[in-house]
Amino acid sequence: MNEMWTPDSWRQRTARQLPTYPDAAALAQAERQLAGWPALIFAGEADALRTRLAAVARGEAFLLQGGDCAESFEDLGADTVRDTFRVILQMAVVLTYGAACPVVKLGRIAGQFAKPRSSDVETVDGTALPSYRGDIVNGAEFTAAARTPDPQRLIRAYSHSASVLNLLRALAQGGFADLHQVHRWTADFVRDSPQGERFEALAGRIADCLAFMEACGFDAARTPQLHAVEFYTSHEALHLHYEQALVRRDEASGRWYGGSAHLLWLGERTREVEGAHVEFLRGLHNPIGIKVGPTATPSDLQRLLDRVDPDRVPGRVVLISRMGAGKLPNRLPALVRSLREAQRDVVWCCDPMHGNTVSSANGYKTRDFAAIVTEVRDFFAVHAAEGSHAGGLHFEMTGQDVTECRGGAQGLTDASLEERYRSACDPRLNGSQSLELAFMAAEMLKAGRKA
Ligand code: TRP
Ligand code: MN
Repeated sequence: MNEMWTPDSWRQRTARQLPTYPDAAALAQAERQLAGWPALIFAGEADALRTRLAAVARGEAFLLQGGDCAESFEDLGADTVRDTFRVILQMAVVLTYGAACPVVKLGRIAGQFAKPRSSDVETVDGTALPSYRGDIVNGAEFTAAARTPDPQRLIRAYSHSASVLNLLRALAQGGFADLHQVHRWTADFVRDSPQGERFEALAGRIADCLAFMEACGFDAARTPQLHAVEFYTSHEALHLHYEQALVRRDEASGRWYGGSAHLLWLGERTREVEGAHVEFLRGLHNPIGIKVGPTATPSDLQRLLDRVDPDRVPGRVVLISRMGAGKLPNRLPALVRSLREAQRDVVWCCDPMHGNTVSSANGYKTRDFAAIVTEVRDFFAVHAAEGSHAGGLHFEMTGQDVTECRGGAQGLTDASLEERYRSACDPRLNGSQSLELAFMAAEMLKAGRKA
């Protein structure tokens, strides 16, 4: 069980979902280059996130994890990043205020570039080419040149991640996230929607609270918590060559940390106990996520947790259930119960997106807002019944005015999908739908905390 771990011990295992590079020397060269560059995050930050997650596991805080399904190199302009960030801020403030509960803010951003695929090849009109595996591997265009895995993309992924992270740090710490700015987080296209009006009302109450406290003599200028947020990053630890190249040893503690993001997660397709991805993640001291689909059994989870968290470190593991509306009530309770009996205090987080992907009549990959809400509702209900904490939400969203998921207060239909469907991968909630979900979740969280 406790065999030696090294940053490359995963290479002795079967690694699913990794591309085959035609030029092994070019891959090794890119890995060496990355290994010589600074990590994007520091050990102390990963430790701070683990401390925050430990509070979530105890039921004292809530985790909000959101961002794109897959980021793309083309679409990482400052506006896109800022728009995503401010929707996350809005959702966070809705939950913090609505449920009087601290919210841990975690983006799936600044590194979410690799995608698992069900098949290694895609065939169109008799031509077979490698599947698109995300911008870190190849291009989406259906040509042999674009689809050939290119190691230089690892370098681009690093530099995109670094610049996005730099912007996020500025937005989180530089005044944009100040609670006094709450009115400025609403995008123009959301402002006049029912969600926008509801948010403006809440923003008005927050501004009143601040003004009242300040009138009472409270010195806002001396209270740093009002002016900034802690914002953490995460992505799926899929591309192990890239992830290994960014592993660093913390001088002070001698521990190994993944340097590409604060939290890394194992996907539903790469979480076999004996597989390479589990081997890689078990040796890192970052907090880690594990996607848990409808077929996961209690013993699967127990074995996995024994492997990645033998010492039961508080805040180490976030279990992200992605069951599908309708399936969750039959699947989740046994898992929650078995971990409680084993005295495993994990963070339970609900991904209501990935079990609810469907095809529309006009050929779009979409999700119904109603199904997403049902899964979230059932998640809170199961935890209430089991006496455990519904710890967080994991969702795919964007700050852009897209039409990718059906339903919500805007009443998007199959026909709406044709208007602004922009996702290169899975359908995302737009700004209005994200806010709507946050308002509902805040009520559920509040009810759960009262009980
Ligand atoms: N720093 C506090 C927090 O993160 C309060 C806060 C400041 C905040 N700006 C925010 C909360 C924006 C949510 C959104 O909770
Ligand atoms: Mn996705």
